Parts: sequence; structure tokens; C-alpha cells
Amino acid sequence: YNISSETVSESCPSNIALIKYWGKYEDQIPANPSISYTLTHCKTNTTIDFSAHESFSVQTFLSGKEEMQFAEKIEKYFKNIEQYLPWILKGKYVIRTENTFPHSSGIASSASGFGAIAKCLMKLDGVFSEKSSDEASLKKASFLARLGSGSACRSLYEGLVVWGETDEVEGSSDLFAVQYPNAEIHEVFKDFNDWVLLIHEGQKSVSSTVGHGLMKTNPYAERRFQEARENFVPMNKILKNGDLEQFIKLVEHEALTLHAMMMMSDPAFILMKTGTMEVINRIWDFRKETALPLFFTLDAGANVHLLFPNNGSEEQIKTFIETELMQHTQKNGVVKDVMKF
Ligand code: PMV
Repeated sequence: YNISSETVSESCPSNIALIKYWGKYEDQIPANPSISYTLTHCKTNTTIDFSAHESFSVQTFLSGKEEMQFAEKIEKYFKNIEQYLPWILKGKYVIRTENTFPHSSGIASSASGFGAIAKCLMKLDGVFSEKSSDEASLKKASFLARLGSGSACRSLYEGLVVWGETDEVEGSSDLFAVQYPNAEIHEVFKDFNDWVLLIHEGQKSVSSTVGHGLMKTNPYAERRFQEARENFVPMNKILKNGDLEQFIKLVEHEALTLHAMMMMSDPAFILMKTGTMEVINRIWDFRKETALPLFFTLDAGANVHLLFPNNGSEEQIKTFIETELMQHTQKNGVVKDVMKF
């Protein structure tokens, strides 16, 4: 290796899962396949100053503020991936990172964060070792991101992305994510909104690491993993035929199942808040009254992701959100994103 000091910068968006990953085995192997949308505006921008030939150390700054805990996490992560990047422990790192969306907003900053770091590492790898093809390098970035945070591996690709082996998606793997074949996706899914209602911006009471761990003793876990695998069959059909009604049913079921798993864990935990329930019920009433395609998904938190296509009814839906749903948030908080591809 011809190692020199380098500065690299990369940007990576977050993603929101439609079929959820919840439960894993050793080495970040997912218990079931998952599929997500990669966001457009919610991103992490990361710069790494790498000083070669100094002793290994990691310093991290989040929006300009030094974060020791994050540095420790990254140090552990780098040691863990040395087997895949042999040069990685041969220098000093100063990592500066900032998110384009509010901190602890329930938009997965670990997904965009580890995605951006993995992309930076692959850029350094391209300088220090023999250049691989862009495609191979992207695949390896997804592989490395997965070892930081499972869902991060899906953020390396645009549009709809699958992680976890399933017969329903060719080339899918437990080790890295793959893009869902674009040519097979119905037009209606190619221009979609994701507005995140910030119901509660505080720290989550249970981390996703602990949550994944509790699936090991959850008596419903095996059935859940099987259901997620089975859900790829209707999902595949829906993505091709554009049946929004079935899409809504499946996506909301996945979100509620994720939270049901939390309630059935031992110890049980609940990440939804009163506002979460309130908003879900208002969405259901709105759909009954108008038959318009506004629906929700949830991540591992209280905030509600509002999903709706740009297919002509979006103005009426946006007005409803702004006049009826925003009041259930803290400080009228909403983060507006789109998934266009
Ligand atoms: O990537 P992790 O380990 O933070 O897991 C997050 C899992 C969910 O966000 C709850 C669901 C998913 O598939 O993204």
C-alpha cells in the first residue's frame, strides 16, 4: 500500500423501509429481507482528514461539536472492518459530519451517517490500493456500511433498494444491498413524498441495537421473519401493477408489526407516543372520507412518515397535513422529502 495523507468528502441520504428489518444474527446478518426508499434531501455530509503514518486515532465532530462517544463507536467499527480494508488502522482520522435534517428527528441518521463514512473509506481505498470498478466499489461501500448499521447498506443506492436474500429479487444478498430493478417499477412509485411529522424529538428510550437483540427471545420472532419474507411476494406484484390500495395496506401493516414486536418483547417497550396514535387515526379517517392515497410508515420511534404519491391529489393531501396533522407535532415540526427516480 502506498499510503499518503488525504482529505475526502462524501454525502449520503437516509432511507425509510417499507418491509422492515427488525432482528439480526451475528455479523449483521438480517433475519429477514427488507426493502426501502432512499430519500432525496435528508442527507449526511462527511469529510475525513486522514493523516497517514501517525498512530491510529479517531476524532469526530458532529455539526462542529466534538463527540467522544461517536469517535469510540467509529474506532471500534474501523477495527472491525480492518480485515476488509488492511490500511485502515495506519493513521489518524478527523471526521467532520453534519446532517441536513434535525438531530434525533427519527430520520435514520445512522443510515446516512454510516453510508457517508463507508463512501469516504472507499474513496481512500481507491487512492491507496488498486482501483476497482465503480460498481464493485459501490457494492463494497454497501457491505462496509452494513457492518456499521444494518439499514445503512440500503442508503448507497437510489430509489427502491433491497437488503437480505430473497428469491423474489434477483441478486439480493444478506451481505450488501441491491437496487430494485427500475424497469419493473410502476410509474406511480417513482415520484413519492415522505413528510416526517416530528411528534417527539427526544432521545429514544430503547436503541435499535437493544431492540434487535430482544427479537432473540421474542416468541413471535420466527413468525415475523417468515411474514416479512412472504411479504415480498405481494410487494413485487404491487410494485409492478401500481395497486396503491394494496401497497398502503402492506406498508401500514409492516409499520404496525414492527411496533407490535416491540410491545411483545420481554421487557416490553413502546416507542409510539399519544401523538403517533392520534395522527394514525386521523389518517385513517381522512382516507375513509376522501379515498385519497395518504398513508404512514414508522421507523423505530414516535415520528410518523407520511407517504403520498405526486399523482394529482397531492395538493389536497398537503393542505390536510398542514391544517390537521401538524398540530400533533412539537413546534409544528415536519421534514419534507421526496423519492424521485
Ligand atoms: O440499522 P439499524 O440497526 O439501526 O436498524 C434499524 C431498523 C429499522 O429502521 C427500524 C427498520 C429498517 O429496516 O430500516
